[in-house]
Amino acid sequence: MTRPRLVGLSANVQRPSKTRTLVDAVLREACSRAPFEGRIFDFVDAGPGLGAAWTRDQLPLPARRVLDAIEEADGLVVGSPVYKGGYTGLFKHLFDLVDPGALAGKPVAIVATGGGARHALVVEHGFRPLFGFFGALQVPTAVYASDIDFSDGALSDAGVRARAAEAGGQLASLLAHRAAVAAEPIPLEAAE
Ligand SMILES: Cc1cc2nc3c(=O)[nH]c(=O)nc-3n(C[C@H](O)[C@H](O)[C@H](O)COP(=O)(O)O)c2cc1C
Repeated sequence: MTRPRLVGLSANVQRPSKTRTLVDAVLREACSRAPFEGRIFDFVDAGPGLGAAWTRDQLPLPARRVLDAIEEADGLVVGSPVYKGGYTGLFKHLFDLVDPGALAGKPVAIVATGGGARHALVVEHGFRPLFGFFGALQVPTAVYASDIDFSDGALSDAGVRARAAEAGGQLASLLAHRAAVAAEPIPLEAAE
């Protein structure tokens, strides 16, 4: 049996990145709970050609690989730095190129980082409508972190680390449940 594929996507355009660190934390938490195949990509991996592509066909190979990984994943951890009060334009641009049916019913955990706490609710008010459009199965706990939650590039705040663990656990449960149902669908009469 193949292991469920869990993909982390971080919209950072430079490294080191707080967003990538936070995406990685949630991904690791999920992968510590069940034998998932976890991979992480960021926009440095996708390359500058992502922003220049108006259509899927115009995506250069590095960006196409990231898009394919998102569409083929069984579950996602998505994250973006906050720019001007919302997710970055490039983050939205990538999801504009994702097939509208590709994320339906798939578990998705949401994270974001910002300079301060002012935009902490962006994960609730900014990100959720986008993944609602896709019909994704959104993890209840979304995680936001700001500059003071990191120390020497590592996620240091105990409260944010606890939320990352909670989100990773929820993501793992949803993924495991989906994998179990796919392997052995529940007959309708038994479910009633
Ligand atoms: C163009 C730009 C706009 C930004 N706008 C905001 C903002 O509106 N609110 C905020 O809290 N931080 C803002 N920031 C700070 C970043 O969100 C923050 O430094 C983030 O953690 C960077 O993530 P990274 O290390 O993954 O690149 C902005 C940064 C840039 C470069």
